[in-house]
Amino acid sequence: MIPIARAEFAPRLIAWQQRHGRHSLPWQGGTEGDAYPVWLSEIMLQQTQVETVIPYYQRFLTRFPDLATLAAANQDEVLGQWSGLGYYSRARNLHAAARRIASEHGGMFPRDIDAILALPGIGRSTAAAIAAFTFNERRAILDGNVKRVLARVFGIEGWPGEKTVENRLWLLAESLLPDTDRIDTDMPVTNIRAYTQGLMDLGATVCTRGRPRCDACPFADQCVANRLGRQREFPAARPKKALPEKSTAMLVLLHAGEVLLEKRPNSGIWGGLWSLPEFPEQEDPARAAGRLGFPAELAGELPGFNHTFTHFRLFIQPWRLQVDRLSVAAEPGRIWLSLDDLDGAALPTPVRRILEGLRR
Ligand code: ADE
Repeated sequence: MIPIARAEFAPRLIAWQQRHGRHSLPWQGGTEGDAYPVWLSEIMLQQTQVETVIPYYQRFLTRFPDLATLAAANQDEVLGQWSGLGYYSRARNLHAAARRIASEHGGMFPRDIDAILALPGIGRSTAAAIAAFTFNERRAILDGNVKRVLARVFGIEGWPGEKTVENRLWLLAESLLPDTDRIDTDMPVTNIRAYTQGLMDLGATVCTRGRPRCDACPFADQCVANRLGRQREFPAARPKKALPEKSTAMLVLLHAGEVLLEKRPNSGIWGGLWSLPEFPEQEDPARAAGRLGFPAELAGELPGFNHTFTHFRLFIQPWRLQVDRLSVAAEPGRIWLSLDDLDGAALPTPVRRILEGLRR
């Protein structure tokens, strides 16, 4: 089966984007050359859908309207603004990159693609998206959505997490870029922005994972997956491996309407966030509290639940305890947080869920 000719791909996608793509997302139509809002949106959108991102994006920009403000902020506040979006290394990297831009690039977001790529948290596809949207550079993107679109339209077999498959997809993505040099009256004006946005829009709104709307797709007539009726088989799924299961117990130590939280180390899950103290499940909760220096009375078991990470599933069993008398002040790395102040706090999502359950 012969897929669409590569030279036809970009003009058709651009024409489709201009008619049917998204044109009023909050990060579109910013000041040309200002990479900061584009960068922020691309980082937030890496693992999160547009509808979820929009309110976070707007709040974040209100609090940190430019690179200099972000670079000057403290990490707790940045993580607090990120709280609920998940994948917190994105926020730590964003903040670290802002600081690096302040110290190494005079506060100006770099234009050079290698300098962009060298910033923490920016991989090849994100660097390309920033360069295309902000600086009109002709660069190929290849995020999860784009991999799916290309795998289907061109019938690329294999799991894209496999290096050889990914390399093939990158080569394909590069070869499909709109031709900047051709002056061809039949072709829409070459527009890397519409092209890049078109790939994203097609993946997010038409060529979706579960139920692609092939009737609305500009490539339906030549798409390999559609013609074979094999949309569900492209891209191939990761070879099956059951997620490892782990479990933990958490102390919900309460005193005068406040709860004890511990700052997690910067590396690992929930890095830099404020979490509940954990202890081995087989240990008695009151004993674990005593070990921390807070003699407390067990007030009851809270409902346990599962939280799924990319690489494992974690069963969390929270225990509620009442601390009657504080004999030691909170040390560095520990705070007592009022249950009325959960909103701006940098909490992991499951911890927020436990604490919000207590307020009801
Ligand atoms: N996903 C990643 N980047 C995006 C963008 N700029 N617009 C919409 N969805 C996206």
